[in-house]
Amino acid sequence: MSEALYLDPLGTAVLAAKKLEELTGKPSHDVALVMGSGWIGAADYLGTPTHEFPATDLPGFLAPTVAGHGGVIRSYTLGGVNALVFLGRTHLYEGKGIEPVVHGVRTAVKAGCRVVVLTNACGGINREYKVGQPVIIRDHLSLTGVSPLIGADFVDLTDLYSKRLRELVKSEDNSLVEGVYAHWRGPAYETPAEIHMMRTLGADLVGMSTVPEAIAAHALGAEVLGISLVTNAAAGVTGEKLSHEEVMAAGKAAAGRMGELLSRVLVKI
Ligand code: HPA
Repeated sequence: MSEALYLDPLGTAVLAAKKLEELTGKPSHDVALVMGSGWIGAADYLGTPTHEFPATDLPGFLAPTVAGHGGVIRSYTLGGVNALVFLGRTHLYEGKGIEPVVHGVRTAVKAGCRVVVLTNACGGINREYKVGQPVIIRDHLSLTGVSPLIGADFVDLTDLYSKRLRELVKSEDNSLVEGVYAHWRGPAYETPAEIHMMRTLGADLVGMSTVPEAIAAHALGAEVLGISLVTNAAAGVTGEKLSHEEVMAAGKAAAGRMGELLSRVLVKI
């Protein structure tokens, strides 16, 4: 099935959405949430899912390769909203190309989701940010040069990160600030010089996900919300070394706050 994903990405997303309907008995879903590194614990605050299964049960999904990236899909019905939750995602640095990276959000949109919420763990470039702080993504810098779109698909990205959704989240927690997210391919973290470059370019946050999914979801007409959790100061900001364990630990510590925020936002979306 992974071959089909590369030959016909949208067709495979339609097949995955059909299989999702079969597995959940729900003709459509309304909202999708992609839980990034360190966010998986936050999903436990959403309540009890009606269904949970490995992502590989749906056509086109790859098994996860990174600790902390679950490869599990859950379906919830929360206050009349059918929410599709991806625990984990595929990243560009896994070397499988762009299609598996955006297959989840394409499946979600084909399953009916009008809103896609993308969460991630990131390094804080902005010196005012603290570890454990969530930041709403206002805009991004795509530094990988990789787009999920092929052909003459000249999509406007002026309002990629929905103002309506950003305001909604801020009305739930007025301590939240907005920032610009820079997408770095990884898997190596950035050098201090690269972080200096990104700060100069206007980035506040840096991470290895979210941007291709945001573009793919928006191109299919979904409204996108991005929330980053600052899990570490970016390279060179404090002089401390970076580690995946530190990223996961910061995510774990913030899971309760993030989960509660998401559940409040989800039912109002
Ligand atoms: N850089 C890139 N990706 C990340 C970081 C970082 O500092 N922290 C968590 N994901």
